[in-house]
Amino acid sequence: MHIRSLLSALLISAAAVTNTAAGNAAEIAIVPLPASVTTAQGSFTFPATVTYSVPAYTGDSINVLLQRMIPELQKATGSKFRTSSDAIMKLELDPKLGAEAYTLDVDNDGIAITASRPAGFFYALQSLRQMLPYTSPEASVTIPVVKIVDTPRFGWRGFMLDEGRHIFGKEEVKKLLDAMAAYKMNRFHWHLTEDQGWRIEIKKYPRLTDVGAFRGSRSLGWIGLEPDTMRYGGYYTQDDIREIVAYARDRFIEIIPEIDIPGHTQAAVAAYPELLACDPENPHEVWLMQGVSDDVMNVANPAAVQMAKDIIDEITPLFPFPYIHLGGDECPTDKWKENAACQSLLDSIGSTKYRDLQLYFYKQLTDHIALKPAADQRKLIFWNEVLHGNTGMLPDDITIMAWVGADKAAHEAAKRGLNTILTPQIPYYINRRQSKSPTEPVTQGHGTETLKAVYDYVPVKDIPADLHDKYLGVQGNFWSEYVMTPELLEYLMFPRLAAIAEAGWTPQQKRDYDSFRNRVRALRPMLDAASINYCTHEFQAEGETPDVFEQL
Ligand code: ACM
Repeated sequence: MHIRSLLSALLISAAAVTNTAAGNAAEIAIVPLPASVTTAQGSFTFPATVTYSVPAYTGDSINVLLQRMIPELQKATGSKFRTSSDAIMKLELDPKLGAEAYTLDVDNDGIAITASRPAGFFYALQSLRQMLPYTSPEASVTIPVVKIVDTPRFGWRGFMLDEGRHIFGKEEVKKLLDAMAAYKMNRFHWHLTEDQGWRIEIKKYPRLTDVGAFRGSRSLGWIGLEPDTMRYGGYYTQDDIREIVAYARDRFIEIIPEIDIPGHTQAAVAAYPELLACDPENPHEVWLMQGVSDDVMNVANPAAVQMAKDIIDEITPLFPFPYIHLGGDECPTDKWKENAACQSLLDSIGSTKYRDLQLYFYKQLTDHIALKPAADQRKLIFWNEVLHGNTGMLPDDITIMAWVGADKAAHEAAKRGLNTILTPQIPYYINRRQSKSPTEPVTQGHGTETLKAVYDYVPVKDIPADLHDKYLGVQGNFWSEYVMTPELLEYLMFPRLAAIAEAGWTPQQKRDYDSFRNRVRALRPMLDAASINYCTHEFQAEGETPDVFEQL
């Protein structure tokens, strides 16, 4: 048996003890930590048949949710579940609770759950699930008497995956959505376009994927690193997208597609140079390198603006959620400066700052969206570099995603009256090395973004109270320049994703790293049961040699 499996097996039995013992709060391992957990003497043992009752709700959605989750509860408890008006597990509506809030009350005789909306019931069941074992129980399952009163700190608890550089596929995305849901995360920001690959089918512009989704190297070149010669690529069809959107919705996760324009677009330019390139006479190819390409869209070409509008029109019905992300980071203006059409457009908008061409491009897109029927309206999100341009051109319902100089940028956005989301590059880019150990796989960073460093970031620190409502929440980002396999993706992402989930959910004054680490450790069987290849550095016993990730 591999040492990792052996350790996990030991921990599974440790967690079973944890999860069957009645007693104090320390024995209840829930991640993220609920807002309030009160334990008392006593315990509840799941009988052979668990009767449950479900309140009537619009469209029968709570019942549908239960139907989906019951098999998991049956597996975890070994009990059969069936509905009954005289139930031992009662779900009841409490309209006073917030949309994602719930109470979970376990006493000696049963379980009572209240929430006002399906999401609240879903999160109550996630908490209950984490209290149960993750291996088939051999005896009756017992959980401690406890009262949990819970509600999230932030409405936005996000995770971003870059599939432009490397694509991981539908099954991996679903696996990550499951993990997000277990940690009560509710926003999946899907970075679908990059210099190195366009990953979403757009029927009106088939070359975006026929050409833009494939390149002549699997690995990406960097200083001292040559691209290989393997043909590499892939993309999501619109049917794939619909399937993943439905999967996410079942888990109360909204998807925010990111079409990163007008920079980070070399793959799109290679597909449609005649519409997008600042220099269509030159050759263009899907990029084989890392870094920031200067081969950006020609924002002064009406055909490029039209193409952006067409893409927005096509993705709008695919993603029935409030937001679309249009990127806006790292957009070099060098090619615009050399382009006569861009120079004259800059004159005509009365600015001398080339960054404003980018903002004017967005203005045309927001004007276009504003003309749509209500059901097709979408709010736009941008990376914080757009603050360097005249954001006054844009509607005030745009949201700034703050990554570089994040705290300062988010504060600046809030002062301008804009909503903002904290995704600080350091320490929330969880593709970076998570330890200084020389055995760490090759990827970005210096190993300083440890689990603890991620955990210890304090969102909305020293911000005047009147700006707090501009801070929608937090998000971890994963960039995949170096990451070619799901195994490495998971190794870097876990368990750090849990630290960001807890920042998004748990009141700041309740957060404590040691408690968090113990709870994540107790929940290792949850990750094992999901076959997630998490990093174990933080879970080693004193003197034990850490697991080494085998570079593929
Ligand atoms: C980014 O990291 N370029 C948003």
